[in-house]
Amino acid sequence: MPSKLILVLSGPNLNLLGQREPGIYGKATLDDHVATAREAAAAAGYEVEHLQSNHEGALIDAIHGARGRAAAIVFNPGAFTHYAHALADALAAYDGVVVEVHLSNPAAREAWRRTSVIAPVATGTIAGFGGTGYRLAVEAALSVLEDAAP
Ligand code: DQA
Repeated sequence: MPSKLILVLSGPNLNLLGQREPGIYGKATLDDHVATAREAAAAAGYEVEHLQSNHEGALIDAIHGARGRAAAIVFNPGAFTHYAHALADALAAYDGVVVEVHLSNPAAREAWRRTSVIAPVATGTIAGFGGTGYRLAVEAALSVLEDAAP
C-alpha cells in the first residue's frame, strides 16, 4: 500500500517561533504550523509526523528514516538552508517528494540567505507566505503525489 505519511521537518531555532523575531516570522508557534500541515494532510487522508531539531545530524537521521516510509518531506531547514550540504546529500538519497518551505522570503533578505543548498534537491520551494506556506507546501506535495499515482 502506498505511504500516506508526510514528514514535516523543522530546523534550528524554529522551536522559538512565536517569540523569535515576530516581525519577520510572525506570532504563530511551530505547533500552530504543524497543526496547519496536519489539517491539510488529513483532508487527503494523510498523516503528519513532525520533528524539530537544532542539530544537523538529527535531521539527517530523520531523512534517512523517511526513505521508503514517508511519501513526502515538508522541510523548513532554517539557517541550515544556506550551507548544510550534508542535508542536501541526505535529501538526494530520499526518493519521495521534497517541499522546501520558509515563513519569510529569504530572497528578499540578507545576501547570505539568497543561496539555498536545499533548493536543487527539492521538488519545489514555497517562501514568503508566513504560516500559510505550511498549508501550501502540503497541498503542493499532495498534488505531485496525486499526479504520480497510477
Ligand atoms: C527561515 C529563513 C532562514 O533564512 C532562517 O535562517 C530561518 C527561518 C524561514 O522560515 O523564513 O531560521 O527558514
